[in-house]
Amino acid sequence: MKTLVTYMSQSGNTKKVAEAIYGELAGEKEIKALSEVKSLEGYDLAFIGFPVLQFDIPPKVKEFLSGNTKGKDIAIFMTHAVPEGFEAIHSWTGSARQTAADANFLGTFDCQGELAQPVIDMLLKAEDPQMKAFGEMGPSTKGQPDESRLQKAREFARDIQAKQK
Ligand SMILES: Cc1cc2nc3c(=O)[nH]c(=O)nc-3n(C[C@H](O)[C@H](O)[C@H](O)COP(=O)(O)O)c2cc1C
Repeated sequence: MKTLVTYMSQSGNTKKVAEAIYGELAGEKEIKALSEVKSLEGYDLAFIGFPVLQFDIPPKVKEFLSGNTKGKDIAIFMTHAVPEGFEAIHSWTGSARQTAADANFLGTFDCQGELAQPVIDMLLKAEDPQMKAFGEMGPSTKGQPDESRLQKAREFARDIQAKQK
């Protein structure tokens, strides 16, 4: 039984969640950036993580999910700036499920991740009022994912592994 935790992370939030998941896993395991993963060959289970970017899954992640997950046991984790429970999160997890439609989908985890300051600055200057409003939300994301979120990620890791046995 070999488990892979792989992630895309630009400002480190998703990486923190990846490390929390990885730390909790029993058995043989590896953690790698998604850019280093050629295929899921040789893994019995893969946790695949990414940040939500521009109201969607990053294109590179979509490409990976659609090309590599057929018949595989996978679980998804993602970070986003909006608070947990925000309506659009369903469409993001739905999009991941749809993209990996041929995988054996074991579950998803999502939590808030701090919006990086350069991104806040850029959004606050945007013409689009939706983007501006998004930038104004920035300070409320500070420090995320915090320890309580990382704890939930650890629980998620345990639950997924238990499902697989
Ligand atoms: C270019 C860009 C676009 C983003 N778009 C969204 C978005 O549409 N919805 C959202 O909730 N968060 C959005 N975010 C926030 C990130 O998803 C969030 O900060 C995430 O935790 C970053 O993860 P990372 O540190 O692993 O890169 C965006 C961030 C960037 C840089």
